[in-house]
Amino acid sequence: MKAIGVSITGCGSSAPTQVMTNDDLSHLVETSDEWIRTRTGIRKRHLATTDSSLSELSAQAGKQAIAMAGLTPGDIDLIILATSTADDLFGSAAKVQHILEADQAVAFDLTAACSGFVFGLITAAQFIRTGVYKNVLVIGADVLSRWVDWSDRTTCVLFGDGAGAVVCQGTTDKDHLLGFAMYSDGKQHDALNLGYGGTDKILKEGLTVNQGTYEPITMKGRDVYRFAVEKVPEVIEKALFNGQLTTDDIDWLILHQANQRIIDAVAKRLKIPSEKVIANLDEYGNTSAASIPLALDEAVRQGKIKPGDIVASSGFGAGLTWGAAIFRWGM
Ligand code: UT7
Repeated sequence: MKAIGVSITGCGSSAPTQVMTNDDLSHLVETSDEWIRTRTGIRKRHLATTDSSLSELSAQAGKQAIAMAGLTPGDIDLIILATSTADDLFGSAAKVQHILEADQAVAFDLTAACSGFVFGLITAAQFIRTGVYKNVLVIGADVLSRWVDWSDRTTCVLFGDGAGAVVCQGTTDKDHLLGFAMYSDGKQHDALNLGYGGTDKILKEGLTVNQGTYEPITMKGRDVYRFAVEKVPEVIEKALFNGQLTTDDIDWLILHQANQRIIDAVAKRLKIPSEKVIANLDEYGNTSAASIPLALDEAVRQGKIKPGDIVASSGFGAGLTWGAAIFRWGM
């Protein structure tokens, strides 16, 4: 029988063991623990070691999620790896499939910066709802430490590395992805970039190509802050409306972990009390596509989020892109 609904049955996460504190950063750039804590809520971040890879981190998170769902890697039909920092520009999802020995799965990367996990979850649901695939692993992972300018205090204090994952399964009764909404606004593309940078190479007279690399992250912080505080409540309300729900139905709010002030402002605008807000950016900083599943996994394993709880998640970031997914956990 064709699946008609989506069930989110497992989660996992992984973060590098190497940790950098705010005090450590104050020896690198002109900043202070006080500035970083009060402006962002971040106290430390986990940074990938030189011999680790995005693929390995992703596979660790994926393995945990598959185990929690009671499946084996061979049961997985599709792996969606949401990342902006693949080990290989051609994509890392297939490598993750190989590490996991998920031999039956097709795997591809999805790039939507800090919205990547939410976009990936919604994409997975479409394959499940049409009955094409039954068991889908969605991973959000980023290693932005590779692309930060460690002399730029306006960005280097913000980011950390990590991976988080969920398993989505087809059900024949209820659909537990209750509502979603997604948006993009390319007009604001230059607000947040990890842009291509290259130099011209003359191959012969009249034939020149550009040979590339990528420039470090740049961000118009205040513009992105204003965008997030305005658009995130709107997109959550739209997703709730699409699911015929209201903010009162939300048990837990998990936003992309960019800034505690953004999280507080969005919760306040939606009138969601702080006890319902999940945050762990004090420990991990902004881990881009990983931040939502990393926070979800911690809260599930701490016993905060329980099967049947309704979670409102929202990602936002470069593109600009933003989206929300409201789901019932663990059913
Ligand atoms: O993941 C994608 C989504 N990203 C986001 O959502 C990030 C959104 N933006 C933000 O979270 C905030 O804008 C930041 C945390 C990036 C910056 O906080 P802010 O309160 O907007 O600070 P600001 O950029 O307005 O800078 C205030 C002051 C400036 O000095 P002046 O011009 O007032 O003298 C900055 O030069 O703070 C200075 N500053 C710093 N001082 C100490 C900027 N970075 C630092 C620093 N340490 N690390």
